[in-house]
Amino acid sequence: MRKIFINIKEIIKAERENRNIICGNDMSKIGRIKNAFLIIENEKIIDFGEMKNLDKSLFQGAETIDLNNEKFIMPAFVDSHTHIVYAGSREGEFVDKINGLSYEEIARRGGGILNSAKLLHETSEDELFEQAKKRIYEIMKLGTGAVEIKSGYGLNTEDEIKMLKVIKRLQESTPITIIPTFLAAHAVPAEYKGRQTEFVDMVINEMIPVVSSLELADFIDVFCDRGFFTVEDTERILTAGMKYGFRPKIHANELDFSGGVQVGVKYNALSVDHLEFLGDAEINSLKDTETMPTILPGTAFFLGLPYSPARKMIDAGLPIAMASDYNPGSSPSGNMKFIMSMACTKYKLLPEEALNAVTSNTAYALGLDETHGSITPGKKANFIITDPMPSFEFFPYSFGRGLIEKVFINGEEIL
Ligand code: NIG
Ligand code: FE
Repeated sequence: MRKIFINIKEIIKAERENRNIICGNDMSKIGRIKNAFLIIENEKIIDFGEMKNLDKSLFQGAETIDLNNEKFIMPAFVDSHTHIVYAGSREGEFVDKINGLSYEEIARRGGGILNSAKLLHETSEDELFEQAKKRIYEIMKLGTGAVEIKSGYGLNTEDEIKMLKVIKRLQESTPITIIPTFLAAHAVPAEYKGRQTEFVDMVINEMIPVVSSLELADFIDVFCDRGFFTVEDTERILTAGMKYGFRPKIHANELDFSGGVQVGVKYNALSVDHLEFLGDAEINSLKDTETMPTILPGTAFFLGLPYSPARKMIDAGLPIAMASDYNPGSSPSGNMKFIMSMACTKYKLLPEEALNAVTSNTAYALGLDETHGSITPGKKANFIITDPMPSFEFFPYSFGRGLIEKVFINGEEIL
């Protein structure tokens, strides 16, 4: 079925050619067409242009949607880093943090990731699926059309498989594109306390082969940071995972200058994510590589961590992606519009740079740049129709407001 959207005030990121990875100065460039039309057919984008060039014969047999020259169309967000399969919530720790405990102190007391692992262990696969499915619909309505979901609250083979199976069921039962990542080493479980190397051995000898044989994940992740896994642990796990065909996407430099960025680059990670602690050495190591530096503003905001030097990174010619990190401990929100607002207010990105960071560059960080991240003929018809707005800049400026009237994923409106 063909759908024609007419009298669009402006299409943002209307780009005929796919841009793949957007670096440095190019981050401030986006394709824009005023007073436009957009044609989609089934699940794909077919064409766009100015209203004056719309061939009227195309209306035959098509559904027409009139945006009255008041509303914008922009690509759906691609959220390249989340942990949205989890059990329950952790607002108790939120209050502990208000009372002065740090994220690391809570983790050392057996809270944090270990708390979520315990809850996940006690929750059935069906219940876990239902909880996560609600979050999937929540983020789709907030404009997200593709999402990465990590395992990592299992901490043993059986519970990791349970999480990855839930991710697979979500892939099969929801319209959003889901990329599964095996977060092999997220925290050392209580039963391995003081025996971290043995836990890493178990990950390598037991978990990786099983997850690979079940074909439940595309990428492998390690939380390489102070108090969690060392560079050496990370190298061992990535080396083992790569033998099974998993490409790394890792958690790096959230809590310290952990060496995570450099180790990610060394193993050709598709992305290194967090980057709250980032200096010249890390910036230099990322130059001229295929690794996407990915910032997670929600975590810095929620935990009160330093904001990554995004401006410096862009000025050094790097690309930047920004994702939500939606998880129960460090960023309990999947609102990518809020991430865009923070990109502008806290990281000093221009609205255009912010949009490239949450669409094209996150699509690259999931290997989805051919199909997602821009309004480009041949790509998936994944886009947002805004409320009436005076300008594109009004969208990130209006932080905390929805402004999203409709979301289309695979050419269908999400209701
Ligand atoms: O990306 N940093 C490690 N993992 C998650 C948080 C997990 C949790 O606290 O539950 C993150 O911030
Ligand atoms: Fe994370």
